[in-house]
Amino acid sequence: MGFFNWSAPAIRRYGERWNVDDVQVIVSWLRPFVPGGGHILDVGGGAGGLARRITEALPSRVTVLDPTPELVKHVETSERVSAVLGSAEAMPFEDDEFDAVVVTDAFHHFRDCDGAVSEMARVVRPGGAVLILELDKSHLAIRLIGIAERLVGEPAAFFTPEGLCAFMAQHKIEGEYERLAGASYRFLGVVRKPWAAA
Ligand SMILES: C[S@@+](CC[C@H](N)C(=O)[O-])C[C@H]1O[C@@H](n2cnc3c(N)ncnc32)[C@H](O)[C@@H]1O
Repeated sequence: MGFFNWSAPAIRRYGERWNVDDVQVIVSWLRPFVPGGGHILDVGGGAGGLARRITEALPSRVTVLDPTPELVKHVETSERVSAVLGSAEAMPFEDDEFDAVVVTDAFHHFRDCDGAVSEMARVVRPGGAVLILELDKSHLAIRLIGIAERLVGEPAAFFTPEGLCAFMAQHKIEGEYERLAGASYRFLGVVRKPWAAA
């Protein structure tokens, strides 16, 4: 996690980019899955900028999970925001503990995407949601970013939106994507565990 420890000040500033409209849109995607007081996990949530804003817009609790100590120590914890040091591939949580998982601009940093998605499916309750905001690797600019990230030791595991949908479906997380501005897209899926009603 060396890259994020030394770049932590910039990542913290980047984590404060969400405006009111951004948060309203994100919350509108999550609301159907998160009952009042429900619990959301922000995987790769950095210093918790989005977590704090979600709790201001939705009556919920958000736990930030991130492996970078230089980010996690800056999460402003409260009754509704908590922070845990750890990685997507080995989550220190119980089965079915969350109503939803959120991942913004972090999925392509996971070294083992299979392991990370298995963990998401494990910790989200049946019928809960997984929301991922990512960048589409079919854009040349994103492939160039991938080359730059690999030079600093990052995995740069970018998907196309279609590819991510297929990948998630292999883990019983069935959903759809929507293209956003530029090369961004969002995946929103429902966790269908073997024992969940169809
Ligand atoms: C570009 S930052 C995005 C932070 C935040 N989600 C946002 O949108 O501002 C990527 C984040 O992924 C985290 N990260 C890297 N590898 C990870 C892993 N294996 N599991 C969970 N988070 C990881 C980094 O520590 C960093 O906080």
